[in-house]
Amino acid sequence: MKKLAKLIVASAMVVGFAVPSVMAADGKALYEANGCATCHGPDGKSKMPTYPNLAGQKKKYLETQIMDIMSGKRSNGMAAAMKANPLAAKTDKDAAKAIAKYLSKVN
Ligand code: HEC
Repeated sequence: MKKLAKLIVASAMVVGFAVPSVMAADGKALYEANGCATCHGPDGKSKMPTYPNLAGQKKKYLETQIMDIMSGKRSNGMAAAMKANPLAAKTDKDAAKAIAKYLSKVN
């Protein structure tokens, strides 16, 4: 019985710290902490006509657009409003990757 309990605890720990779930959690946390939800809505579903939906978009596309907007390479439309946001400006390549991964899985 004790052995079984130990085994259950051990497997719960392995599942809990599995890399993919941590990555997904980070993406969602970063999406919220970096102010993205303010403009793009909770889970990338925007309520404003000029702010695009991001949920379910392709991962690589999202990552590229985030980095292009932040670097100023993409400056069309209202992209400048996103670049100027101090919370969003913290987003580096790793954060963009994690956020893109999370958003691409939302449907
Ligand atoms: C101040 C509001 C604002 C904030 C904050 C903001 N965005 Fe944006 N974002 C926009 C707007 C507006 C556009 C559309 C730009 C345009 O008009 O072309 C955009 C465009 C994008 C695009 C391109 C979408 C497409 O279909 O091409 C992505 C991806 C994106 N934002 C991700 C993010 C992420 C991730 C964050 C947080 C790190 C963020 N945005 C924060 C306003 C914002």
